[in-house]
Amino acid sequence: MRLLLILTAIAVQLCVTWGATKPRVVCYWANWGSMTPEQIDPTLCTHIHYAFHVMDDKHNTIVDSKGSPQPDLYNRLLALKQKNPELQVVVSVGGWGQPDIKFSRVVNSPELRKGFIANTIAYIQKYKFDGLDIDWEYPVCWTGNCTAGPKSDRENYGVFVKEIRAAFEKLTPRLTISAAVVAGAGIADKAYDYKAIGEYVI
Ligand SMILES: *[C@@H]1O[C@H](CO)[C@@H](O)[C@H](O)[C@H]1NC(C)=O
Repeated sequence: MRLLLILTAIAVQLCVTWGATKPRVVCYWANWGSMTPEQIDPTLCTHIHYAFHVMDDKHNTIVDSKGSPQPDLYNRLLALKQKNPELQVVVSVGGWGQPDIKFSRVVNSPELRKGFIANTIAYIQKYKFDGLDIDWEYPVCWTGNCTAGPKSDRENYGVFVKEIRAAFEKLTPRLTISAAVVAGAGIADKAYDYKAIGEYVI
């Protein structure tokens, strides 16, 4: 009897978890590639991430890696919602080869974080994206080198995502926050405050 109850409890838990989290299929679209927005089958993806934007030199907002905003491309990606109304089109900042020092300066400064978050929200709203994806590779372990960045990146990257989440929650419609992270524990253990990432990202 007790076993049955436990099994039932597990089954209910699984149902709740399953019901709450629909599978995500995240498709990155590269602004340097040859595929056009119209060549994407939007019924295959739940999210399209526009890759990439970078941090500007003043560390207070994001800029398209092409050097200036590309509203025509954003609108063509957003138009895919006509074929998949639940599709989310998200702007992705970072990517391999982006200067880690810029992310590090922003996350380690309360003032820069505040300005960056406010300006990035304005940018996302202006171009009608659904959220922000952060591809910093990686806190502390810059381009994979774990002695290159300050140890404070780890804790303050957690603070950064916490503050972004709090700011996004206040908006209507709410914006989504996601992050591309390294899988290997050798880097991940040094780079991430797992509790913060787990609690505030997505
Ligand atoms: C890692 O970064 C440190 C600090 O910048 C540097 O001294 C070291 O040479 C780097 N290691 C590699 C393998 O690049």
